[in-house]
Amino acid sequence: MAKLTYFSHAAWQINSGAHTILIDPFLNDNPTSPVKAEDVKADFIIITHAHGDHIGDAVEIAKKHNALVISNFEIVNWFGSQGVKAHPLHIGGGHDFPFGKAKLTQAFHGSSFPDGGYGGMPAGALITVEGKTVYHTGDTGLFGDMKLIGEMNPIDIALLPIGDNFTMGVDDAVKAVELLNPKTAIPMHYKTFDVIDADPNQFVERVKATGKNATVLDYGGSMEF
Ligand code: NI
Ligand code: MN
Repeated sequence: MAKLTYFSHAAWQINSGAHTILIDPFLNDNPTSPVKAEDVKADFIIITHAHGDHIGDAVEIAKKHNALVISNFEIVNWFGSQGVKAHPLHIGGGHDFPFGKAKLTQAFHGSSFPDGGYGGMPAGALITVEGKTVYHTGDTGLFGDMKLIGEMNPIDIALLPIGDNFTMGVDDAVKAVELLNPKTAIPMHYKTFDVIDADPNQFVERVKATGKNATVLDYGGSMEF
């Protein structure tokens, strides 16, 4: 069994028993996170894009725990310049790591660094641990190839932004669940800031009304999968 933990916004942790994987660890400056960077450990850190609310505290955490950052080529080069070891992937490419597999998908969004530097293309990540696949879509708008991604990569858990304004809102995220057809969908990227004040329970009710499964993970909450 692996364990999935939500730290709020787009920040997640997957524990496989042997390995801890963090995704988009925006913690110290995140008003909704129940943990700070000093509270978490990591063997691997997956970064979906270069925006500050996704890079977060990855440099500090990676250096402290000698973690390997996994991201697109441009973001990996930047981490290298910060003295962090990192493995480059790019859209459509996957690689086997000690924990399982990570593969990047497209995401429709931006990916500049906080200083305006070029962060390559934004991505989502298909993360396979102990034979189960978690799809962290990153920050994205709805796109029709979610159907293709779901067909070719059976998804156990889909993590979907619902906050609107910068990403899909609830209506589009409900459609994303239909296209991806995951066993379970969990909302993310809401309420962190006033402008993304969406209701995760509304998302869950709407998904369930379509006959599919969804659940809310509280900030700091976990589930086994
Ligand atoms: Ni973003
Ligand atoms: Mn974001």
